[in-house]
Amino acid sequence: MNNSNWVRVTKCENIPPREGRAVLLDGREVAVFNLGGRFLALENSCPHRGGPLADGILNGEKVVCPLHARKVCLQSGAMEKAEAHEPCVQTYSVRVLDGYVELLVPEWQPLSVPLSANVFPIVETA
Ligand code: FES
Repeated sequence: MNNSNWVRVTKCENIPPREGRAVLLDGREVAVFNLGGRFLALENSCPHRGGPLADGILNGEKVVCPLHARKVCLQSGAMEKAEAHEPCVQTYSVRVLDGYVELLVPEWQPLSVPLSANVFPIVETA
């Protein structure tokens, strides 16, 4: 795996335990969740009507969408009670390195600009 495809998006401390935050990765909003020492990430848009999943409440390894309370699995991206036209949510590989949360840019996703100019951490506070 190419190390250059991992992108730092925020410090771990910026995402409190049992909460999520939105970050930008190559122009896409990604919701990153802290499950208490483990981080999971998926696209920040509910397949039902685009609810911001980063603002949802965690229920085990699922997030409850803040708009209509459907649950989305953080591991698989599958939504409970999904209708046929509602796809799974895109998930992202996550790692922690030197106190930072890093996301793996999918191989199939062409980058529109260089990685260094590509990340804008919405949650950065310090
Ligand atoms: S937008 Fe997420 S459940 Fe409706």
